[in-house]
Amino acid sequence: MSSTATAANMSPADRMADPNWWRQAAVYQIYPRSFSDSNADGLGDIRGITAKVPYLASLGIDAVWLSPFYPSALADGGYDVDDYRNVDPKLGSLADFDAMVAELHGAGIKLIADIVPNHSSNRHEWFREALAAPEGSSARDRYIFRDGQGPDGSLPPSDWESVFGGSAWQRSVDQDGTPGQWYLHLFAPEQPDLNWDNQEVRDDFLKTLRFWSDRGVDGFRVDVAHALTKDMTHPLPSKDELGSEGELQDGSHPFWDRDEVHEIYAQWRALFNEYTPPRTAVAEAWVHSSRRARYASPEGLGQAFNFDLLLADFDAEQFRAVITRNLAEAADSGASSTWVFSNHDVVRHATRYGLPKGGGREGRGQDGKAWLLNGGSAAELDLVTGTRRARAASLLMLALPGSAYLYQGEELGLPEVADIPDAARQDPTFFRNQGVDKGRDGCRVPLPWTAEGESFGFGDAGAHLPQPREFGAYSVESQEGDPSSTLELYRAALKLRRQLQTSEELTWISSADSVLHFTRPAGWQSVTNFGTEPIPLPAGTMLISSGPLDAGLLPADTTVWLS
Ligand code: BGC
Repeated sequence: MSSTATAANMSPADRMADPNWWRQAAVYQIYPRSFSDSNADGLGDIRGITAKVPYLASLGIDAVWLSPFYPSALADGGYDVDDYRNVDPKLGSLADFDAMVAELHGAGIKLIADIVPNHSSNRHEWFREALAAPEGSSARDRYIFRDGQGPDGSLPPSDWESVFGGSAWQRSVDQDGTPGQWYLHLFAPEQPDLNWDNQEVRDDFLKTLRFWSDRGVDGFRVDVAHALTKDMTHPLPSKDELGSEGELQDGSHPFWDRDEVHEIYAQWRALFNEYTPPRTAVAEAWVHSSRRARYASPEGLGQAFNFDLLLADFDAEQFRAVITRNLAEAADSGASSTWVFSNHDVVRHATRYGLPKGGGREGRGQDGKAWLLNGGSAAELDLVTGTRRARAASLLMLALPGSAYLYQGEELGLPEVADIPDAARQDPTFFRNQGVDKGRDGCRVPLPWTAEGESFGFGDAGAHLPQPREFGAYSVESQEGDPSSTLELYRAALKLRRQLQTSEELTWISSADSVLHFTRPAGWQSVTNFGTEPIPLPAGTMLISSGPLDAGLLPADTTVWLS
């Protein structure tokens, strides 16, 4: 296994220049509209992020992953991009972006930009041109237009469903006002799928990657990386003939995880490698675990998210299996592993672990969607247990080799906000399911910075999604300096991790079934008690604990690091 110098011993400048910086990085995801609002319009923005760089530096993270900040009508929280080479005026300007990058880099923090290649927005100039152009035109060929079925073409070309619910096809209207062809949108109708067989689409994305790399972006998070290439040969299979996302292992699905997609990433890799240090990329690819390595290979994007821990219950056996498998897979691919418990698409893990086992992820298959929000009863949520487990799980994750991806607010132990009024909801998932699926707004509520005051310090003009009253107690201000707080736990753990994370080795120590105990180089040990009874601690000096010990014993739902 490869080893890296201790990050703690490196100057920020050396860390910035290290080509392996990503292998063991702690990456903090910022969902910009909900982070910090500098100009009192209720939406977080780029200057808000810049102002918080000291906070980010105090956390001890290595990189920020910035969710989409491009011009967008926000039909899908910014994942509907109008212009790939600009900043949303609601969030700032390119000059603000450059200033943010300079400030982050000055603090030794890298920037990973979210890139959305599967679909543009319906307001992108290409899509407007496509609608204005005749059938069969080159403007239409940048997207996936097809004739409808039935004598008058009024039925969609297939019965495929969009990920957000409803048909994956939308009928367009021709210039003369008559109904025209249909276009494919695997997500919302405002997100038409691009046609990656079209050379212009491929060339334009290379231009975009270069544009941001030249501006100092250090890496890219590639949205739905497994969907770009499609087999649209007629007749299109019916939805009953399709396997589900993440299930097939042979690349035979018409749009998920086709082998041809890797030609695109090989080209991207060549571009990334022109830079010093090379630009990095991480694939968001909900594929079968046996197919992940290709996305993560050094000839491809270099790293891929594994969501297996996020999908697991808080359960020693499940965690052990996931960790063992993913470390082996990462080693095979040449990448380092990735770990994630929370992001902008799933129920926050403090809430998930407070729900009955298996409860946090029913419904749309793999995406960690809220059981609580979809018919479960709030009475079954035990947030005290959930929070204790989330702290234990996070400390365990930070002891693992590989990159840890953290989501804004998890360092505050924020819970999911379950009771957003329907009228305030924004997520297209909610609207396309007639409210049956409440969607992802509950993990996107603006961060609380202060205990009191307008939007708890998020900004001076309220928050674009309502914050519950208890957010004040979770605020940075309320937790700062309190050693028992989740914020100080994350800070201390991230600092220690920087010193201890010298190589990518992990050795399991045999233990009871409900305990995970492993060692890392230089005598660093992590022990988590997933059981119900306190257990004796192994020999060693205590470095940090996710919760108080019980008369010298390690209580249930608690992790400690020892040396
Ligand atoms: C992003 C989602 C987004 C979808 C469509 C995802 O995987 O993480 O937030 O809705 O892609 O772009």
